[in-house]
Amino acid sequence: VTLYARTIEAVADYVKKNNVKRVVVMTGAGISTAAGIPDFRSPKTGLYANLARLNLPYAEAVFDISFFRQNPRPFYELAHELYPGKYRPTISHCFVNLLHKKGMLLKAFTQNIDCLEREAGVPGDAIVEAHGSFATQRCIDCHTEYPDAKMKEAISKKEVPHCAQQECGGLVKPDIVFFGEALPEAFHRNRSLPAQADLAIIMGTSLTVQPFASLPSFVQEDTPRVLINLERVGGLGSRADDVLLLGDCDEGVRKFADALGWREELESMWEK
Ligand code: OAD
Repeated sequence: VTLYARTIEAVADYVKKNNVKRVVVMTGAGISTAAGIPDFRSPKTGLYANLARLNLPYAEAVFDISFFRQNPRPFYELAHELYPGKYRPTISHCFVNLLHKKGMLLKAFTQNIDCLEREAGVPGDAIVEAHGSFATQRCIDCHTEYPDAKMKEAISKKEVPHCAQQECGGLVKPDIVFFGEALPEAFHRNRSLPAQADLAIIMGTSLTVQPFASLPSFVQEDTPRVLINLERVGGLGSRADDVLLLGDCDEGVRKFADALGWREELESMWEK
């Protein structure tokens, strides 16, 4: 046991005294709700609770590859709302960038497809977008890439884009990982990194979707794991060095920054 108490102040103390520099961050939709993007599973506000208008057989079908093949419309209805560009990173995203700036970030694993980590300044090679992103797109049949500008146009018009290759005409889909598809190679290449972490921070995720949900279990037993989330998830809190900050993640991140003496720096990064 490395912490003297299961408080965020004790974690901050541990960070300062142990020259912590291999922080692994694992995030989900909850860190972007303050930016105006709904999460998936929150009971009233989550995306899955608000899809009735799309007439889906079940909510997650909107991100299911076999369903998409039959009916891509519901996804493109949603893509119109979720497409990056109109949202600004939250203070939680900035906190990840601050860790990077201090040379302490080993990797930021995100399930989010909104690209807000990049927008906050975290470099691409420090991020693993485990569920892909809207950054690129391709044909689901011949896998030919599709131009960004044409994709943008299709999404803004709520049209379903089709492959431009002769005799293909397959459906085009952003490189978001749908249910029934493999995770990016970068996820598999990096998935054992949590075992090398000297601190793990888990924020804004229900930890319900595998294999991402298993990442926190790869963190060594004696390495502190901090959960900053509205609810307790993934069995966090079961280890002696787990610290739970249950509540809004921006609030939690500010509390952590206060304890680390980073608050002013964090706020000024966010205001820029
Ligand atoms: P979920 O919607 O499943 O979980 C979001 C978590 O964040 C919940 O535990 C919320 O309580 C919490 N939360 C929401 N707002 C918060 C806030 N302001 N502060 C703190 N906590 C907050 O989202 P994910 O875990 O990201 O996959 O979902 C995982 C995957 O399921 C997604 O990547 C997506 C979805 O199907 C694909 O589409 C492939």
